[in-house]
Amino acid sequence: MDPLATDFVPIGGILSGSHNNKAVKIRGWVHRSRTSGGLAFVVVRDSTGVLQCAVKKDAVGEEAFKEASEAYLESTIMLEGTVKEDKRAPGGYELAAEKVKLVWKGEPFPIAKDQSVEFLLDTRHLWLRSQKLTNVMKARHYIVKYLREFFDEKEGFFELAPPIITGAACEGGSTLFEIDYFGIRAYLTQSSQLYAEVFTTALEKVYVLAPSFRAEPSRTVRHLCEYWHLEPEMAFYDQRMNMDLQERMLVHVCQRMASNHADLLSALGRDPDELKKVKGHFKRMAYQDAVELAAKRGANIKMGQDIGADEEALLTKGEDQPVFITNFPKDIKAFYMREDPGFPGTVLNADCLAPAHGEIIGGSERIWELPELLQRMKEQDLNPKDYGWYIDLRRYGSYPHSGFGLGIERLVKWVLNLDHIRDAIPFPRTMNRVYP
Ligand code: 4AD
Ligand code: MG
Repeated sequence: MDPLATDFVPIGGILSGSHNNKAVKIRGWVHRSRTSGGLAFVVVRDSTGVLQCAVKKDAVGEEAFKEASEAYLESTIMLEGTVKEDKRAPGGYELAAEKVKLVWKGEPFPIAKDQSVEFLLDTRHLWLRSQKLTNVMKARHYIVKYLREFFDEKEGFFELAPPIITGAACEGGSTLFEIDYFGIRAYLTQSSQLYAEVFTTALEKVYVLAPSFRAEPSRTVRHLCEYWHLEPEMAFYDQRMNMDLQERMLVHVCQRMASNHADLLSALGRDPDELKKVKGHFKRMAYQDAVELAAKRGANIKMGQDIGADEEALLTKGEDQPVFITNFPKDIKAFYMREDPGFPGTVLNADCLAPAHGEIIGGSERIWELPELLQRMKEQDLNPKDYGWYIDLRRYGSYPHSGFGLGIERLVKWVLNLDHIRDAIPFPRTMNRVYP
């Protein structure tokens, strides 16, 4: 058997029943195995599933049997044999092997059962092969695919590429990663929004999907130092249109995941019927009412303070769908958010809170008139010189516009109901980890 041959069958195809009683070849990695006497059960995985293979000494010969029964977890293996329906086998099918060959036996696999979280993070490059992470990464792929499908095919957006190295803060100085750019101070971007705003001047409806960086000194289940950020920006959209768009986007992703990937969701312990309930008409609540409600439900929060994880949990308690919190006080929000003419002192913004998981989106209508922008920058002690090009956008052909930022890992965490954001990304970057 040649591992590069093109006639291997994906295990998922076998499990779907389309090869019953047929001769097939499979290749993959040893997921589990046990031997007793002249019979070895080798469970093999490939990217599409796991299949139990019965390897009999009589059928494969002494040499091949030895190879199969002495293989390690994760040894690379090829088998040829006949598929048999078998209710006792996981997945309902078994391969009766006729030929077995190890591609690479390798060394004993370091990950056994019941390893500590730290050990699994140290061996993340190997742990990514686990069933759980394999399933999460598949689901993440589909979630991103449906986001793109929504913007590309349903809403007519253009995707553009922003710079990752930038010269000024977007979300305040405290979480900036500074780099030495040939002797000049530069930063890893916190958000591509300001550039997305430039793109709307040419293409009107755009989005950016890129990493954002936050030097987050906090250790929480929802903060990463490097995360993937989807940032749509729309010319001639007000904040209400902005929220309507976010709602349509989340409904699209949840419905697609629930209808097309129910098995994957169930394997991850997420009930697809719960996601089906995300249908639109999300609650919209002003900050002031949200603070009152959170306090009534036991939060220790005062008017004017930012809404944190505890308050978010209280505000979404018992909800099937996300909730928007609008009209935050302008002095606790970023400099680019437009003041609400109907509710002065507050901005035209919304955080979108997912039930039990909290903020997944932050968005706003942007200040588009030059005097208001300059005034706000002054209030927030920002130097207009650092934002020359951004201010230019208000000098030439300015217009009302809005946008938002969605944390991909936050969305994945909610859609899959994960305990920790680190499992929503292959290599989580947190305060105390840049390895592997
Ligand atoms: O609320 P944020 O800070 O808003 C912005 O960056 C805006 N410029 C976005 C825009 O309007 N284009 O971040 C937006 C989202 C959050 O709602 C959250 O989902 C995610 O980015 N996020 C993080 N995700 C993981 N780890 C972190 N440290 C995150 N910080 C923000
Ligand atoms: Mg936010």
